This record gives sequence, C-alpha cells and structure tokens, in this order.
Amino acid sequence: MSRTPIVAGNWKMHHGVAATTSFCEAILDEALPGGVQAVICPPYTSIPAAAMLLAGSSIGLGAQNVHWEEQGAFTGEIAPAMLVELGVEWAIVGHSERRAMFGETDETAARRAAAAQAAGLTVIFCVGETLGKREAGETFAVLERQSSVLGPLDPGRLVLAYEPVWAIGTGRTATPEQAQEAHAFLRERLRGAFGDAAEGVRILYGGSVKPANAAELFAAPDVDGGLVGGASLDAASFSAIIRAAASAPPKE
Ligand code: PGA
Repeated sequence: MSRTPIVAGNWKMHHGVAATTSFCEAILDEALPGGVQAVICPPYTSIPAAAMLLAGSSIGLGAQNVHWEEQGAFTGEIAPAMLVELGVEWAIVGHSERRAMFGETDETAARRAAAAQAAGLTVIFCVGETLGKREAGETFAVLERQSSVLGPLDPGRLVLAYEPVWAIGTGRTATPEQAQEAHAFLRERLRGAFGDAAEGVRILYGGSVKPANAAELFAAPDVDGGLVGGASLDAASFSAIIRAAASAPPKE
C-alpha cells in the first residue's frame, strides 16, 4: 500500500482572521488534485475562521503546537482537547523555532506528541540539524537523538518532518539527495521503533520548499510530501506545491 503524500502549510505567526479568510476563499477556488492530503496550520486565533470556511473541503486543519496537559495553570498554552473542539485534526510538534527560541526539548516535544495523539490528533513531529551540526558531520547523530523519543508514540497517528534548520526560511534548500539520505536514515529509525508499521509513516521534507523545487524533492523515494512555511501563505503557490505532490511517483 503506498503512502498518500501530505503537503502541510506552517503559517507560523502570519495571517490573522482577515488574511486567513482571503486565503481560504482563494484555495477553495483552486482545482486541487486528489491523492494528496493538504493541511494548513494557521495561528490559533485564525483556526475558528479556517474551520468554518474549510468545513466539508478536503483541506485539513492543524495547530502549530499543543500542550501535554489537559488543563491547568499553564499560561499561554493550549490543550489538545481545545484544538479537537475546533475541528483541528493535526498538530505540529517540536518545530525548530520552538526548540531554538522557546525552550522546547526532545523530552517536552515527546510529551506534547503523546498528549496530542491521546486526544486523537495526528502529530507532525519535526526534527533537523543546524548548519553547525551538519558541517561538523553530526547530522545523523542529531537525527538519532531527536528521533529517539518517538518509540512510545502511535505510528498510525505520526508524521515525521525532516527540516534542516539551515534550510528554513533561508531560501537554501536541501538537495533531493540530501533529503533522501536523511529520510532514509529516519525511515530506518522508524523501523527500529515500529517494525513494519514504519513503512506507512509519512516523512515530510521542510525548508524553503516552493513551487520551483517541490517536484524534484517529492520525487525522492522516502520524501512523502512537504512541510511548507513561506510558500504556504499564498493560495496559488501552496496549490502549486500540492499539485507537485500529486504528480510525484507513488511511495511504497
Ligand atoms: P520555510 O519554513 O518553508 O519558510 O523554509 C518551513 C518550516 O519552518 O516549516
């Protein structure tokens, strides 16, 4: 059975309600191909508007983070059930910006992921090395460490995103060969954790994906779609990336 590709838009701190409304209206006008799961992850405050506008469409709705507790004194955090209540089905966890700027660790990312899955969300778990680590030849050591916390998770509700930090928002993309090499390593790690179920886990590439480079990245055998930042903010460019994923060879 082949893996259905996913193209997920990580909007970061962009698109309030007005811009989200315009985006949703525009994307609903696009003739999106079948065979690709598209997901947008707006800021929390824009989620209700997106949920209303995208209801009944094939476009999924995700959050950019989620807390591990069900409720309590956690100022500024959002519980998994609060997202589910809004129609959210996906959650990004462990993004490199959370790790670099907001104190996210492998351990807290793992807690968020487990709680999100327990509430029924599918987790898009991000890993990836910095430029310094790549240049020091430590890419695989970083990926090994970051992926070592995945074992207790449910592979059926897990998506991995390989996002080399040096490629995020820099316009500098990993080559398809670099992406495939990292994805194959991660697939092997998933096999160690989940056995045969690893073959069904989608591994997305993220880092300056755009319409011009999406097709060559998505052609790699273990690249099952993309986690897209900047190029997901515009409906035309996001749908071009979805079309590139639809045209990619099937992933076994
Ligand atoms: P970018 O961001 O596509 O703007 O590089 C990707 C991400 O951070 O998920």
